[in-house]
Amino acid sequence: MDRSFFWEKIAKHYSKQPIADEAAYQKKLQVTRGYFRPDMEVLEFGCGTGSTAIAHSPYVKHIQAIDISSKMIEIAQGKADAKNIENVTFRRSSIDEFSVSDRTLDAVLGLSILHLLENKEEVIAKVYKMLKPGGIFVTSTACVGDTMKFFKVVAPIGKLFGLILNVFTRKELEDSLTDTGFEIDYQWQAGKGKAVFIVAKKAG
Ligand SMILES: C[S@@+](CC[C@H](N)C(=O)[O-])C[C@H]1O[C@@H](n2cnc3c(N)ncnc32)[C@H](O)[C@@H]1O
Repeated sequence: MDRSFFWEKIAKHYSKQPIADEAAYQKKLQVTRGYFRPDMEVLEFGCGTGSTAIAHSPYVKHIQAIDISSKMIEIAQGKADAKNIENVTFRRSSIDEFSVSDRTLDAVLGLSILHLLENKEEVIAKVYKMLKPGGIFVTSTACVGDTMKFFKVVAPIGKLFGLILNVFTRKELEDSLTDTGFEIDYQWQAGKGKAVFIVAKKAG
């Protein structure tokens, strides 16, 4: 089954959902902005309906925001047009299809996405290559391996619908990042069972 199937189906519904934890979301935006500079080239993959890319757009030079679902991108583009945002380029692309020269990006954002990928390790390695030395990878990831062991059972069912659930622990995620060469620069979790927010840095 096409991997975008699930996301195409839920895009409209997803765009109407309130943010689950507004305070945590705002904190993550603030921490990320602490790393931004006005000359930065940024990629956000799995950008969904674009709210985060739009919110960050005043703080960097340019954001390429990609998503595997054309419906998500359509909604995101509509929001950007309504706000006259000119430095975010929304494009339908999976992270696997996406191509950019090595060491050209200052920051890559992958939010609520790593646990949905079949090839998390490959994607982390790809992000590492795309980043300039000193560049950052910002992730917020459900580490369901820590709390919800039953996901190991339901994951294959999700896969039937094009939704991949990759089960790993926080420690396993940290190891995936550091084994690739990243240093964990910042880490925060709003509470037990909540997404793990990490800013990982490529050595300068
Ligand atoms: C849980 S949503 C998160 C959206 C947004 N980052 C957020 O935090 O609200 C996951 C998004 O990743 C997209 N996606 C899933 N697999 C992808 C892939 N391989 N490459 C790019 N986008 C992908 C989906 O279409 C969906 O919009």
